Amino acid sequence: MVKALTAAAVAAFTSVAAAARCQNLTIPVSVSARNGNFKLANPTNAIDATNFALNMARQGHNYTDEILDGYNTVSGDYNISATYCEPDAGPGNVLQVCTHGIGFDRSYWDFSYNNYNYSYVRDAVDQHGYSTFTWDRLGIGMSSLFQDPINEGQLWIETAALRYLTEGLRNQQIQGMSAQFQKIVHVGHSFGSSQSYALTAMDPTISDGIVLTGFSQNGTFASQFVLGSNFIIANTNAALAKYPTGYLAPSSAVGVHIDFFAPGDFDPQVLQVAYMTGQPVTPGEILTLTGASASPNSFGGPVLVVTGERDTPYCGGDCLATGDPSLASIPAASKMFFPNAQNFNASITPGAGHGLNLQYSHPITYNTIFSYLSQNGLSAQ
Ligand SMILES: *[C@@H]1O[C@H](CO)[C@@H](O)[C@H](O)[C@H]1NC(C)=O
Ligand SMILES: *[C@@H]1O[C@H](CO)[C@@H](O)[C@H](O)[C@H]1NC(C)=O
Ligand SMILES: *[C@@H]1O[C@H](CO)[C@@H](O)[C@H](O)[C@H]1NC(C)=O
Ligand SMILES: *[C@@H]1O[C@H](CO)[C@@H](O)[C@H](O)[C@H]1NC(C)=O
Ligand SMILES: *[C@@H]1O[C@H](CO)[C@@H](O)[C@H](O)[C@H]1NC(C)=O
Ligand SMILES: *[C@@H]1O[C@H](CO)[C@@H](O)[C@H](O)[C@H]1NC(C)=O
Repeated sequence: MVKALTAAAVAAFTSVAAAARCQNLTIPVSVSARNGNFKLANPTNAIDATNFALNMARQGHNYTDEILDGYNTVSGDYNISATYCEPDAGPGNVLQVCTHGIGFDRSYWDFSYNNYNYSYVRDAVDQHGYSTFTWDRLGIGMSSLFQDPINEGQLWIETAALRYLTEGLRNQQIQGMSAQFQKIVHVGHSFGSSQSYALTAMDPTISDGIVLTGFSQNGTFASQFVLGSNFIIANTNAALAKYPTGYLAPSSAVGVHIDFFAPGDFDPQVLQVAYMTGQPVTPGEILTLTGASASPNSFGGPVLVVTGERDTPYCGGDCLATGDPSLASIPAASKMFFPNAQNFNASITPGAGHGLNLQYSHPITYNTIFSYLSQNGLSAQ
């Protein structure tokens, strides 16, 4: 059930490049979800932050399960900050709903460094005729923040927001947006892929195509990310002062490097920009990161997984080292989670790290996505 959506603040369309026309939106959402109730005190200092990472990363343990104490229904009214872009000639038939991962906000999809050379949105809109909807995930950036980073700020409530937005976009109920789309494709990165997976597992007809980037369903290596981040309390960093205590962020650019950038595939300036504009993560998000993709997904449309060969959290640094000659890559194992998918494909971007859009290799990743979509009935034209 979707309530009529009203946009509290709608900027006029602004031409931002040769062709793309973009519009910022503030969208009120009313959502509720069944969240985990965790027996965990809110981390308030660097010792707490590191202890949390050590508990999460402990081999032979499932910390999420160890501190889970039942479930709560969490409901709330929130604002989502989003950007809609379309080609100058008008809306594309296909809308891509892009959900960013941990460490970023929606600028991950429209990275401005080097005159937008890295921007996925510019490529999708200007070169391929798609419309795009990018949003700051609930709890991040200019969207409403979580007051409770453990029992409120979890994958489940954020996925409920993604569902609310998707239904609004399908039914033309986002005020300030009149475009109508024949098809909607969900594109995620990392935690945004987990949410796109969870959404379509719950509601397989809500999407026409799924692109999961920086993703696999192998949770063995998530601990490398959690430890490598070198977490501190986010609001001790002046750039992140607005976040409630309990949100976590890397203590320096080194954590961002370990988590997102593969040796030899990045411009050191891009790493600095990613650190300076980086966004935090809640303990509740980390606790619910992998659980949502543990169950199968009966989605019946095209599904593409694209992950960097040297991805740390989802492949432990080598997606091709499966130890199983019948399994081409770690992400290829997702095929069995999508028994009804049409033409499931898992592609590995050679040499890329987890932060695919910010690597030198981003054109390979983007071409993989656009050619897969066009070969599977999801081109914009
Ligand atoms: C949207 O908001 C962002 C962040 O405030 C700003 O940089 C950008 O110029 C705005 N875009 C438009 C089209 O108004
Ligand atoms: C860990 O426990 C959680 C909560 O019970 C569960 O959802 C998740 O699937 C478990 N993870 C693994 C790898 O078993
Ligand atoms: C959403 O934004 C509007 C306009 O800025 C504001 O009046 C309203 O209180 C906000 N709602 C929430 C739930 O933050
Ligand atoms: C994860 O990948 C590693 C390396 O390929 C493999 O040994 C392990 O069995 C995989 N785990 C799962 C749950 O698929
Ligand atoms: C994915 O698509 C590419 C390009 O068409 C193809 O070479 C590759 O074999 C496909 N992989 C799988 C697992 O289907
Ligand atoms: C954009 O980035 C790609 C990949 O790094 C590079 O080959 C290309 O020359 C860059 N283009 C511009 C206009 O900077």
